Amino acid sequence: MEEIQKNEYDLLIDKSTTVQKGWKKVPAPKRGELIRIFGLKLREHLNELGKGVTMESKKPITEGIGEVQEAIDMCDFAVGLSRQLYGLTMSSERVNHRLQEMWHPLGVVGCITAFNFPVAPWAWNFCLAIVCGDSVVWKPSPKTIKISYRCKEIFDDAVNDYKSKYVDSLGIDPKDLLLILEGGNDPAVWLAEDKKIKLLSATGSCEMGKSLAPKVAARMGKGLYELGGNNAAIVTQFADLNLAAKAISFSVIGTTGQRCTSLRRLYIQKNVYSSMIGIIKSQWSGLAMGDPLDKNNILGPMISKEAVDKMQKVIERARMKGYDVWGGELAHCTESPKHEEHRENYVLPCLIEPKNNVHDEDLAMAETFAPIVYTFQYDKLPEAIEMQNSVPQGLSSCIFTEKLNEAEQFISAVGSDCGIVNVNIGPSGAEIGGAFGGEKDTGGGRESGSDAWKQYMRRTTVTINYGRELNLAQGINFDLTNNQSE
Ligand code: UN1
Repeated sequence: MEEIQKNEYDLLIDKSTTVQKGWKKVPAPKRGELIRIFGLKLREHLNELGKGVTMESKKPITEGIGEVQEAIDMCDFAVGLSRQLYGLTMSSERVNHRLQEMWHPLGVVGCITAFNFPVAPWAWNFCLAIVCGDSVVWKPSPKTIKISYRCKEIFDDAVNDYKSKYVDSLGIDPKDLLLILEGGNDPAVWLAEDKKIKLLSATGSCEMGKSLAPKVAARMGKGLYELGGNNAAIVTQFADLNLAAKAISFSVIGTTGQRCTSLRRLYIQKNVYSSMIGIIKSQWSGLAMGDPLDKNNILGPMISKEAVDKMQKVIERARMKGYDVWGGELAHCTESPKHEEHRENYVLPCLIEPKNNVHDEDLAMAETFAPIVYTFQYDKLPEAIEMQNSVPQGLSSCIFTEKLNEAEQFISAVGSDCGIVNVNIGPSGAEIGGAFGGEKDTGGGRESGSDAWKQYMRRTTVTINYGRELNLAQGINFDLTNNQSE
């Protein structure tokens, strides 16, 4: 990988700054039109792009295509939003005054994305930023650079079809609305330290976020973080165990356990513990594993040998502590002719049962980006909720129960402390319509749906006096005549 030099980086940011200065003048619905065309192009290239995601990230093709579908959904959402960037009108306490909020474009948005989801989180940010009148500098993972360039090509193609009188008169090239910044840690730090980056949105590990966030904060910049996950599921004695097992399996095995939403911790009520584990184990024997481009396979290789080694080390540590370990072996898949170099990277999903429900700092409290799930037993629901909430991360959580009061307790203020709280579905596989993100070390950011768009704009509070008197708020009396006569 060619490392980009700082002066090249500066030129890129200047280009992005220039295009944004023009783009912010384009009416929002006309900005939405560009994303509408882009969404149509993505539809045309759905299978090809899905394949591209799979080739680099190694996730099964159905998930690769699903990820591009997520980007298409984001386009549709953003197009609608381009006519709904609403500000509130409030009642003024003063006569002949109007009080109102307006939302304006923010500027250049820096977007850092990870290898495991090379398209969707970028699309969450990009589609919103564009309709909000911003430009985007995208730093993808070096592991998935090809698919990023392909997305850029398709966007440029959409720009070619986008003939807008509003843009033509501004003399800007909307292709610059998306610029790719290649590289590893250095460009990420430049983005974090750069005052010209009005919002830094970063997806990745908690460590990455914790190193960048102070740099953004030091310049009073805005950050939007989606970091780590360490997600949990609670299975109560009132759960439909078959439904729970399928959801659990997808959340552990999907993307070979390398989703930020992957399931890492499983809390099972003691009366159903062995039946639940039994069903999961039977589902995991004979999993269709192999070439992720073959649509029959649901388990592909991990991203790298390094990731496999990390997983094996964690399993080894658990064994040394005397914990029960089931699965997790290397699978040396021979059915992957198109990806010979990845034959060594196949692993079986793994269940680890820590002794006495212990949450070790380096095991259940930490996060291994691999298909490992720790299993715990509990008696009463509050105990399970407390254990679930005891980790530093707080992205996604779920409960399996058919009892209304258990479900309601879990989603209430005394329930899950995560950003995503599900009932009778697993922690992974969120739709774009809701705000996506989590609490605590996950960083507090919210992306994609709901009102996440507000982060890509700046809010002004506007007070208009349409009378002839200067009335002060809070009833303050400011009489200049009185002062003079004193
Ligand atoms: C990620 O792993 O960074 O909810 C994103 C999900 C996907 C997005 C995952 N829609 O699992």
